[in-house]
Amino acid sequence: MPVQIVNHPLITHKLAILRNKETSTKKFRDLVHEITMLLAYEATRGFPTVPVTVETPICPMETAMLRTENIVVAPILRAGLGMLEGILAMYPPARVAHIGLRRDEETKKPVTYYYNVPDNLEDTTVMVVDPMLATAGSLCAALDLIKRGRPRQVVAICLIASPEGAAIVSSRHPDVSVFVGAMDEKLNERAYIVPGLGDAGDRMFGTV
Ligand code: PRP
Ligand code: URA
Repeated sequence: MPVQIVNHPLITHKLAILRNKETSTKKFRDLVHEITMLLAYEATRGFPTVPVTVETPICPMETAMLRTENIVVAPILRAGLGMLEGILAMYPPARVAHIGLRRDEETKKPVTYYYNVPDNLEDTTVMVVDPMLATAGSLCAALDLIKRGRPRQVVAICLIASPEGAAIVSSRHPDVSVFVGAMDEKLNERAYIVPGLGDAGDRMFGTV
């Protein structure tokens, strides 16, 4: 499935502030939180619902609710942690899977250093979140790990993607719907997204 770009003026506006190198760490975190909520709105459009009966003050009605108990959010550490609260704000009952992946800056390949995922992923919808989809090494590694648990459905949400990374993830994981806030121009020689926003983890945690 091709990567879906969520074109919306609010997302583009907030991304513009996020990308600005003068944006403070606090503002950066707040924006990641807000943009994640906006992207989650689109990414959850096809989520399964169950019929429910609700007593309004006027009368009973048949409506539907999300099967929230079956949603698992999987942030890719570190930077994905900044998106976790945005998803939990929308789905408080969601369970959380932590996937620690670090990109080796020499090889550009992901190294797994932590994996702590709820036991039974069958019958779940897993939402993998990471701000940056660059070479796609990290996202593909996370999807490989998550799929071992045989979830019913997997979606991924990233703030900014490169065309190179988007092509790789959609060919290696065609069954995963990937939603991004922007598709940038290219990767540079250090495999950073251009124009991008720099190092998402460093900007989020103030480690620069
Ligand atoms: C960043 C980012 C992604 C990865 C993207 O994490 O958050 O996980 O790089 O690059 P890729 O698509 O080429 O794999 P990083 O490895 O810098 O770790 P951090 O979140 O701990 O800073
Ligand atoms: N990781 C980042 O944080 N930014 C990029 O542009 C690429 C990988």
